[in-house]
Amino acid sequence: MTSIIFFLLAIILSSRTSGATSRGGLFEASAIEKHEQWMSRFHRVYSDDSEKTSRFEIFKKNLKFVESFNMNTNNTYKLDVNKFSDLTDEEFQARYMGLVPEGMTGDSQKTVSFRYENVSETGESLDWRLKGAVTPVKDQGRCGCCWAFAAVAAVEGVTKIANGELVSLSEQQLVDCSTANNNMGCDGGSALTAYDYIKENQGITSEENYPYQAAQQTCKSTDPAAATISGYEAVPKDDEQALLKAVSQQPVSVGIVGSGANFKHYSSGIFEDEYCGTDSHHAVAIVGYGTSEEGIKYWLLKNSWGESWGENGYMRIKRDVDEPQGMCGLAHRAYYPVA
Ligand SMILES: *[C@@H]1O[C@H](CO)[C@@H](O)[C@H](O)[C@H]1NC(C)=O
Ligand SMILES: *[C@@H]1O[C@H](CO)[C@@H](O)[C@H](O)[C@H]1NC(C)=O
Repeated sequence: MTSIIFFLLAIILSSRTSGATSRGGLFEASAIEKHEQWMSRFHRVYSDDSEKTSRFEIFKKNLKFVESFNMNTNNTYKLDVNKFSDLTDEEFQARYMGLVPEGMTGDSQKTVSFRYENVSETGESLDWRLKGAVTPVKDQGRCGCCWAFAAVAAVEGVTKIANGELVSLSEQQLVDCSTANNNMGCDGGSALTAYDYIKENQGITSEENYPYQAAQQTCKSTDPAAATISGYEAVPKDDEQALLKAVSQQPVSVGIVGSGANFKHYSSGIFEDEYCGTDSHHAVAIVGYGTSEEGIKYWLLKNSWGESWGENGYMRIKRDVDEPQGMCGLAHRAYYPVA
C-alpha cells in the first residue's frame, strides 16, 4: 500500500519537477526502487536484510523530506537525495563534521590584527577557482576532520597567491600530527590550531607525499614541505563586510552550522536556512562570492564531502543577511593563514 502511494507521489512529483536534473529519472520509480537505484549509485552494501530494512526506512523519510521541500517553488535552492540519505541527521552530524566548539580552541582569547581592514575594492564577484587558487573538491569520508580540509583549502589558496603555484596539500598530515590544543584527528579539531601547527612545524607537505586515509594514524615524516605559513589572523567576528574584504584577498576558513537536514541534502541554488542557528560543528572554506541571476548575494563555499554533494562539491549560500553572524553562523569563526 505504502509503495503504491509512493509510486503515485513519484509520478506527480516527476511531472512537477520539470527540467530538474539529469537524475530526473529517479523520480519515476517507487521509493523501494529509488532505494535500490540509490544503493547502486552510491555503492552501498548492507550486511543483511534487517539492516537494509532499517536503512530503507531512513532513506524513505529523507526522500519524502527532499521531495516535499522541492515542491515549494518559493525556495531559492533545491535538495536531492545523496550519499547521506540513509543516515539519520544524528549519524550524519557525528560522522561528517568535526569542528570542535569555540571554547575548546582558544578562538576568542587570541587578539590578532586584521590586515585587510582597509581593503576598499572588493568588486561585485570573485571566484578563486578561476584564478587557479583552489584544488579539486576533496572528500573527508567518514572522519570528523572537516577542520583539516578547511585549513588546507585556505593554505593552498594563500600559497598559490603568494608563490604562483597551486599544490594539493596533506590533510592527513594534520589529522596525524596536529594533535595539540584539542585537535583530535577524526574526532574533531579546528583550522586555527592547524595553522599554528603548520607554522610551528615549518610547513605542510603535499597530498601526494602524505595521502589521505580517512582515519587517524601515527604521525609520519612530513618532509619535504610543500607550503609554509607565518601564522594566521582572524576576521572580525560577526561582520560579513569584514569577511568580504578578507575573501577578496584570499580563501578563508570558516565555521558553519552544517548539520541540518537541508544542508545535508543541498543540491543546487542559493542556500538559506533560518533555523540553522549559529552553533557551528562544521568547517569549510569560502572561495568566492557573487550575486545570482535572481539578484541574491551569495558566498561560494568549498566543502569536503566529495563532488556528488551540492553544486559539484560547492555550495552557494546567502550573503549579507540580517543576522550579523551570517547565514548558519559563517561569519563567526573565520580565519585565514598568512603566507
Ligand atoms: C510563496 O510565496 C508567496 C508570496 O510570499 C506566498 O503567498 C505563497 O504562499 C508561497 N508558496 C508556498 C508554497 O509557500
Ligand atoms: C588602516 O587605516 C588606518 C587609518 O589610515 C590606519 O591607522 C591602520 O593602521 C590601517 N590598517 C592596516 C591594517 O593597514
